Amino acid sequence: MDKMHWILFLHILMGQCCFFTCRLYEYHFIAENKSWSEAQRYCREKYTDLAKVFDMTDMSRLRNSTQNQGEAWIGLNHNTGGNRTWHWSLPGVEYIQNDSSWNLNGRQNWEPYPGNCGRKRDKLADVSCDSTMWFICYDEMKKDNKTLYLITTPMNWTQAQSYCRYHHIDLASGLDQVDGGELTMMKKKRDPSRAWIGLFRDSWRWSDGSDFSFRYWDMQLFNDTQSNKTCAMTLLNRSGKWSSDECDKEKPFFCYDDKLILIKENKTWEEALDYCRKSHRGLVSITNDYQQRWVEERAKNASSPFVWLDLRYSCTLDLWFWINDKLVCYEKWSKEGKTEDCGRAVGMQSGGQHEWFS
Ligand SMILES: *[C@@H]1O[C@H](CO)[C@@H](O)[C@H](O)[C@H]1NC(C)=O
Ligand SMILES: *[C@@H]1O[C@H](CO)[C@@H](O)[C@H](O)[C@H]1NC(C)=O
Ligand SMILES: *[C@@H]1O[C@H](CO)[C@@H](O)[C@H](O)[C@H]1NC(C)=O
Ligand SMILES: *[C@@H]1O[C@H](CO)[C@@H](O)[C@H](O)[C@H]1NC(C)=O
Ligand SMILES: *[C@@H]1O[C@H](CO)[C@@H](O)[C@H](O)[C@H]1NC(C)=O
Ligand SMILES: *[C@@H]1O[C@H](CO)[C@@H](O)[C@H](O)[C@H]1NC(C)=O
Ligand SMILES: *[C@@H]1O[C@H](CO)[C@@H](O)[C@H](O)[C@H]1NC(C)=O
Ligand SMILES: *[C@@H]1O[C@H](CO)[C@@H](O)[C@H](O)[C@H]1NC(C)=O
Ligand SMILES: *[C@@H]1O[C@H](CO)[C@@H](O)[C@H](O)[C@H]1NC(C)=O
Ligand SMILES: *[C@@H]1O[C@H](CO)[C@@H](O)[C@H](O)[C@H]1NC(C)=O
Ligand SMILES: *[C@@H]1O[C@H](CO)[C@@H](O)[C@H](O)[C@H]1NC(C)=O
Repeated sequence: MDKMHWILFLHILMGQCCFFTCRLYEYHFIAENKSWSEAQRYCREKYTDLAKVFDMTDMSRLRNSTQNQGEAWIGLNHNTGGNRTWHWSLPGVEYIQNDSSWNLNGRQNWEPYPGNCGRKRDKLADVSCDSTMWFICYDEMKKDNKTLYLITTPMNWTQAQSYCRYHHIDLASGLDQVDGGELTMMKKKRDPSRAWIGLFRDSWRWSDGSDFSFRYWDMQLFNDTQSNKTCAMTLLNRSGKWSSDECDKEKPFFCYDDKLILIKENKTWEEALDYCRKSHRGLVSITNDYQQRWVEERAKNASSPFVWLDLRYSCTLDLWFWINDKLVCYEKWSKEGKTEDCGRAVGMQSGGQHEWFS
């Protein structure tokens, strides 16, 4: 087979890239009745912590890890007395405060207070989530370089989020999307004057301190202002959707187990691959920014200047690919660090910008 055929074959074999399928942790269902804090203690002792959920794929994996159809605790609880913090709806997009994107007094007189959802006019403003307005969905680029879609049916924020998650990927999230050139172009064609984007704030926190923004509340049962139901559970007989309950109630629960281990030994790439395959699952692959940040945290503990990743260059195919996974969709190369050459593999800097070098 010539090279083009091989590449085609790889595409088919490995499927479309950029799906967040490579997971750095595993779920365990514990069929014992415990209060939320007892459950947390148990998970921290036997595994890593109570379960956290990054996106819908995680939710599906969590549900698939048990046959049970009742209620079970997950690692999310309400930080009573804590302030609400902003999140972007799209999993993996980190919220970074930037005052210059906000119109801090930008709420219109008729827009009700308090506002825990974000809308975009010229700038961002917080308005009440039950207002209804047009909204902007984000999708992967399909045609015409287009990733943002203006939906001109007024909905409240929750409905808008469900719509975007069903028909596209999510509400537009992150300043790159909502302050970027594509939005400016869109507004020139049709100015919505104001529209929902994927910005919301709440005071729910993950047990392990992660800032995962994914929420899967069952809006028929969940009430965010009920002050004494401050621990979150999944209702396995309602598609796994979430509600909250009093934390001292006893229920079964889900733990997660961290699968990312830093091996503090100096080895060649081949030796490292061999070691990880024999003793674990393999070297780590990185398919999104969130995973990059996670690996960065672990890499900081290395005494060597670089840590090996699962990425290698193939001379025959003339491309970089993850050994046990797929094509490269996410990348964080250093400017000078990318040399396409036979026998090259990739290391991440254990310090600094944690960039990749071949
Ligand atoms: C947990 O509690 C439920 C309801 O109280 C009960 O039906 C179930 O048998 C209990 N499970 C265990 C493992 O004790
Ligand atoms: C969970 O199980 C269902 C049905 O068996 C399957 O279609 C789905 O792909 C599984 N989800 C994951 C993330 O493995
Ligand atoms: C789901 O389970 C709960 C108890 O955990 C029960 O109250 C509820 O009726 C069940 N709902 C459905 C749709 O089966
Ligand atoms: C909550 O916000 C207020 C005002 O911005 C601040 O003074 C306070 O320290 C914050 N509390 C916490 C727990 O972060
Ligand atoms: C905040 O946004 C402005 C313009 O949108 C940008 O110039 C500035 O660099 C940003 N600040 C930070 C800290 O990201
Ligand atoms: C949004 O609208 C739906 C359907 O009308 C309603 O059930 C839900 O409570 C509303 N949500 C908010 C936050 O207003
Ligand atoms: C998409 O963007 C690329 C680079 O910015 C440009 O070369 C191309 O012509 C654009 N395609 C369309 C259909 O606008
Ligand atoms: C939510 O709970 C609060 C406090 O218990 C109550 O005032 C409010 O009416 C409830 N909201 C709904 C929609 O049930
Ligand atoms: C807490 O929950 C109980 C029911 O379990 C209810 O009677 C009580 O009013 C709630 N307290 C507050 C402050 O909401
Ligand atoms: C780094 O190593 C220290 C000491 O061994 C340990 O306490 C810490 O948890 C490690 N950090 C990470 C992110 O693994
Ligand atoms: C690995 O090699 C580096 C130098 O490249 C050295 O500083 C470090 O101590 C070594 N680490 C171990 C665990 O041998």
